[in-house]
Amino acid sequence: MTAPLSDPDDLVRLAADIAREAGALARRRRAEGVQIAATKSAVADIVTAADREVEALIRSRLAAERPADGFLGEESGAEPGSSGITWVVDPIDGTVNYAYGVPAYAVSIAAIEGVPDPATWQAIAGAVFGPPTGELFTAVRGGGAFVHVGDRDDDRTEPLRVNEHPGAAGALLATGFGYDPATHAGDLARLARVMPLARDIRRIGSAALDLAYVAAGRLDGYFERGLNPWDHAAGALIVEEAGGRVGGVPGGRPGKDLIIAAGPDLFAALQNAIDAR
Ligand code: IPD
Repeated sequence: MTAPLSDPDDLVRLAADIAREAGALARRRRAEGVQIAATKSAVADIVTAADREVEALIRSRLAAERPADGFLGEESGAEPGSSGITWVVDPIDGTVNYAYGVPAYAVSIAAIEGVPDPATWQAIAGAVFGPPTGELFTAVRGGGAFVHVGDRDDDRTEPLRVNEHPGAAGALLATGFGYDPATHAGDLARLARVMPLARDIRRIGSAALDLAYVAAGRLDGYFERGLNPWDHAAGALIVEEAGGRVGGVPGGRPGKDLIIAAGPDLFAALQNAIDAR
């Protein structure tokens, strides 16, 4: 048997520590006032000065602790490493909420093995931290998923479990809409196909939180088209470790084309509904 590249428990501890530190910085900057620094893929796709500063903090902390690892971040791009592990980072997932002052945004940090492409990678540790609530969601492959509330040295930790059976009223589902207006008609048609399964729909505005909430049973399921790898790297592992399924188009892995996350039965129903044309 080959030795693991690193102890996943060490990786998740590091991800969690850095996510908390980065989240505290994001929260401080939010309190001081937010500046939009630039637009990216579309006019609605913004980056704030805080996104950049928070990613720089995460990147420098990871480089200091694990210099041989690779990095893939939303704001500062990719750098290959030599250890076989790459950190996939969204410094502020939910940037539009952050800019508007809606308290639903998260720091997302995952350690993956393999090439940093969700079509083939294996996520091994992940942390999603929500600064406005102080909740930290973590998972290690094969080690379960947890939510931690409170300070690092004095937190209450509870295991996460997806909802297996949403109930007769239907499923509480979340989704999102990409920044490119050209994709909105397709997004709305997909939503219409899924609606018969739903008791109601949420659009939280942070894919990392959508996934963490599926893992926690606060949502029954989630689907979206157009996500980038850093939006779902940590959250998808947290759902799987909470007993859920995460996938993409039928037979495929989660990716830009589609991500679906739910308990096993609802996952299959969502995949069928989305695929039906
Ligand atoms: C966005 C959020 C949003 C999702 C978008 C993502 P960002 O990430 O996760 O919920 O609908 O597709 O791009 O831009 O805030 O990091």
